[in-house]
Amino acid sequence: MYRFIDNTESRKEKRLVWAATRSVLENVGFLRNKNGKKSKSHWNVFLHLLKVFAFLLKISGYYRKGYGNAKNIKVTRLTLEFANLPPAFQGFRILHLSDLHIDSIPGFASIISEKIKNLGFDICFLTGDYRRDISGSFQHILKPFRILSKYIQAPYGTFAVLGNHDTFLMARYEKESGLDLLVNESVEIVKDGQTILVTGTDDPFNFYTEQSILSLETRGYKFKIALVHTSELAKVAAANGYSLYLCGHTHGGQICLKEGFPLISHQFEGKQFNHGLWETGKMKGYTSSGVGVSGMPVRFNCPAEVTLITLETG
Ligand SMILES: [Fe+2]
Repeated sequence: MYRFIDNTESRKEKRLVWAATRSVLENVGFLRNKNGKKSKSHWNVFLHLLKVFAFLLKISGYYRKGYGNAKNIKVTRLTLEFANLPPAFQGFRILHLSDLHIDSIPGFASIISEKIKNLGFDICFLTGDYRRDISGSFQHILKPFRILSKYIQAPYGTFAVLGNHDTFLMARYEKESGLDLLVNESVEIVKDGQTILVTGTDDPFNFYTEQSILSLETRGYKFKIALVHTSELAKVAAANGYSLYLCGHTHGGQICLKEGFPLISHQFEGKQFNHGLWETGKMKGYTSSGVGVSGMPVRFNCPAEVTLITLETG
């Protein structure tokens, strides 16, 4: 079972403040990360370059191959050991899905569902980016999300954070989508009388606020997991005693020269955060290469993944 650490009234109040702040950030002429304001213009340049690149792929015949790669999702299985894991959580299984971009490929919800339907897991975490575009309507993703929804239900809950492609307006559909959104919020997961804490923040890549930092300052828990769209808050989480940090955003590069060598990763924290396991202080982290694609629906040398993580006492 799970329970939010704030009571319903307090959560409602915090949500209203968050929604007001996020709506302003989504509609002003700049974006905001932990270093301050940043321009929106780089994204438009990137989209123009993508069009040229897509044209070159099409005339060279590689586009079809990349499209096939994008639909071929692998299952990554990891076992992570922690000395401070409460014994009741020995063998606890996490399904981590990031960057679904569920509208990027026709029928993608069914492809993902097929991949995960026989995976056993205790809890499911989604670390942001549910639609392809970064603005505009998202109503068209609700139907595919409903298809996926029944396959991501887990005994200890399904929790999601928002990414830089998402809007605060999605929050009103969380229950309908069969999940709980964590926007600078924490839940206690209780198993056999023992508790771990899961904190989810709002996206720090484009919509950073100090509330995301504050939400990572919760004390009094032996084992804490942070869910953030990007790796940008890893140092903060590690300094606040988090043991595990799950993120995505990079798509592992999506298009790599060879595995692990992305053309673009959209992150500036260091190449160890591009994809896979990493450590910051005593905290372990994992950057998913993502389930879906953005920009154009192709992947090269960088498979899409769903990640099944088993926690063990070490
Ligand atoms: Fe993404």
